Amino acid sequence: MSMASLINRFKSLFSAKNVPEKIFTGSFSPLVYRLESPKYHLFDLHGENWMTGWVFYFGEKVITELAVTADEAVVGNFPVNMPRPDIGIHVPFIPAAQTCGFHFKLPVPSRDIHNIHLDVIYADGTRVPFLIYDIDSVRQLASKLTEYQRQLQEIPVPSAELVFLTQGHTQTDEYQNGIIPAVLTMQSYLQKSGIDVDQIRYLLDFGCGSGRLLVGWHIIKPHIQLHGCDLNPQLIEWAQQHVSQAIDCRMSSLNPPLPYPDQQFDMIYLISVFTHLSLETQKLWIQEFKRILRRGGYLLVTLHGELYVRNTFDQKDEHFHVFMRAGYVEEGQASVEGGNRYRSFHRHDFVRDLFTGFEIRGYFPNGNDPQHNTLFQIAQSQDVYVLQYTGS
Ligand SMILES: C[S@@+](CC[C@H](N)C(=O)[O-])C[C@H]1O[C@@H](n2cnc3c(N)ncnc32)[C@H](O)[C@@H]1O
Repeated sequence: MSMASLINRFKSLFSAKNVPEKIFTGSFSPLVYRLESPKYHLFDLHGENWMTGWVFYFGEKVITELAVTADEAVVGNFPVNMPRPDIGIHVPFIPAAQTCGFHFKLPVPSRDIHNIHLDVIYADGTRVPFLIYDIDSVRQLASKLTEYQRQLQEIPVPSAELVFLTQGHTQTDEYQNGIIPAVLTMQSYLQKSGIDVDQIRYLLDFGCGSGRLLVGWHIIKPHIQLHGCDLNPQLIEWAQQHVSQAIDCRMSSLNPPLPYPDQQFDMIYLISVFTHLSLETQKLWIQEFKRILRRGGYLLVTLHGELYVRNTFDQKDEHFHVFMRAGYVEEGQASVEGGNRYRSFHRHDFVRDLFTGFEIRGYFPNGNDPQHNTLFQIAQSQDVYVLQYTGS
């Protein structure tokens, strides 16, 4: 695609006159980002820390800098201009995404600071709060985080090829270092949904891949009985051979049933799994989850929301209109269901109707709570739902 046609596509996607107001549901945040480091368990409370990541606005606005303060004190302004072709390639219609990286050194703190605030600064000079790094929590958890890191280092990491199968990238360090923050973030979604994590005794990771998150749960909450299943034999064999024997990892099929007794689990989580299944298959699984969840148990599910629809389809594409009308669409039927190329997209109202017998306890659009952007999201910018099984 030429640069001119890219720019035209970009303009047609966002020019207000081409976008009937009623199809903007406003259910996604246009700030798309990832803080890559320092992860919670790698934050050095007494030394220098490199803040690395990327951020862009999913629209016309261009972010030029991050303004950083430690509590009230100014730390400095740092450019958002590093080339990130790995990000830009996914959004060719947003030129600023090509150079959306940041990488800067936080000075050694001269005293115990509470929070680090990062604000984005747009090209027009406007400034908007972006992330708050809660240093107090890191300080309180310091000895535990050090212990998590020690245990994590003893666990093998899958090959780059296997990492690609579950994460869509080949960075084995990112895979490993993302485990602890992801499980802490998952716990924070549960807490924000009013759920006491310590009540969970039996937990299933449905579509666990190579057991990435189960490893984190085992380190952080070793008393929980952990189970995982996946239909990919390569991934599940790796998990069976490398993660703790205390974690029960099993091979499963595209469709139910699973080999677990009725009402076995307090919680089941699905990180980027329904995102790769047909609606028909999703409905079969919801029935099976009702069988193996105890009444009152929880589901934590991540789904592609409206941001992903706008990222994937041109507004002239029928898929886009189907989603806007029906709140659901899928694509990739020519590829294998359950694989990463088969993709489904869900809107909030559709999710409510799909999960009959469940109540939505928490909804985190793009993985964020309505007040704050999440420091370390669990499945890029996917929407996160916490549901409780209340019915039949
Ligand atoms: C994008 S990956 C995410 C893996 C894992 N949840 C994680 O976050 O590391 C999706 C996973 O779901 C698995 N999967 C897809 N459909 C499935 C199904 N019907 N039953 C079990 N696993 C499934 C795939 O094999 C793959 O490992």
